[in-house]
Amino acid sequence: MNQPAASGLLTADARDNVRALRSSQIREVANAGLGVPDVLAFWFGESDRVTPQFIRDAAAAALGQGATFYSHNLGIAPLREALAGYVTRLHGPTTADQVAVTSSGVSALMLATQLVAGAGDQVVAVTPLWPNLVEIPKILGADVQTVGLRFGAQGWSLDMDQLLAALTPGTRLLLLNSPNNPTGWVMSRDDQRTVLDHCRRLGIWIIADEVYERLSYADDGAAAPSFLDIAERNERVICVNSFSKAWLMTGWRLGWIVAPDALMGDLGKLIEYNTSCAPVFVQQAGIAALTQGESFVQQLVGDLRASRDHLVQALSALPGVQAKAPPGAMYLFFSMPGAEHSLALCKALVREAGLGLAPGSAFGPEGEGFVRWCYACDTARLDAGVARLQRYLASR
Ligand SMILES: Cc1ncc(COP(=O)(O)O)c(C=O)c1O
Repeated sequence: MNQPAASGLLTADARDNVRALRSSQIREVANAGLGVPDVLAFWFGESDRVTPQFIRDAAAAALGQGATFYSHNLGIAPLREALAGYVTRLHGPTTADQVAVTSSGVSALMLATQLVAGAGDQVVAVTPLWPNLVEIPKILGADVQTVGLRFGAQGWSLDMDQLLAALTPGTRLLLLNSPNNPTGWVMSRDDQRTVLDHCRRLGIWIIADEVYERLSYADDGAAAPSFLDIAERNERVICVNSFSKAWLMTGWRLGWIVAPDALMGDLGKLIEYNTSCAPVFVQQAGIAALTQGESFVQQLVGDLRASRDHLVQALSALPGVQAKAPPGAMYLFFSMPGAEHSLALCKALVREAGLGLAPGSAFGPEGEGFVRWCYACDTARLDAGVARLQRYLASR
């Protein structure tokens, strides 16, 4: 045990960087609802449906066969091969040695950031944004500057001039998430090219969080534009992905990274010191998802599109609610009376109406004025939530 310093004071504080992290405002809202019976919660980013049976069966079979040991840091070879095949189908030639398996998308983000950014580095992130992307570089001692998306008649959009102005020769890393949580914004191919060219010129790393790439509602049914479609094999681009969203595997904690060859040895070391490897039976389940899951993913996107449209229509009928169908992800990020204080509003909604939404301010200052509703559920559940919101608004 630490001895008290000569002054007589024993301090047991975490590092300043850690103590300065923002705690989750979604959690704060959930805590405000403790003790409220029958809360209808739409605040977390996951479906209310269980992982498909064929994926659960694959994990059970792997466990039955004794898949209980450590694996290679970068993942088991058959999963890396399956990922290379999957990424090749979506985005063009990719080999297994460019792919690393991680224990979740969020771990992939941590690893990717650890690879390229550290204390004192300048990091730029486009917000509103799922808080983890902004907080991870801060854990490592980096300085994070944000560039805000704007909300207008066409929904959320990026001011490219503003972003390029923020990316200077002193910038180390750009963090982008498209399709975006919480806004559903999808970066266009043209914008990706412009940003990539600019970052190439200035030697800036890009970490692209593409965990929602399959949840894209473009008419052609294709995945959202990815930096993998346009980046050269060995440039400063790291793409992060996850099994959580497209295959409903949030609780399994399985993700992956596609990175330049030159990084893979160092990435293996980082994985060793973070998690060592993802559980092998979970990796086996990942192979089933990739090799047997295509029709499931397409069906899921169809269901999500129907839920999205249903919710937009239902909410738009409420007084003062402004909702626009997002082109990607699984959230409606909308404005409503009282949302200018979104944290207080969401606490009141959970306490007084039994409705669980996420406050826009949880996703950065540009998110204030909005609330987030995850629509990954059936329309009956959405209707029950909308009825609660309607009652709440009528009682004001
Ligand atoms: C933008 C974004 N990136 C990454 C993740 C990480 O997902 P997971 O850690 O479940 O793979 C999430 C989860 O909500 C997310 O919204």
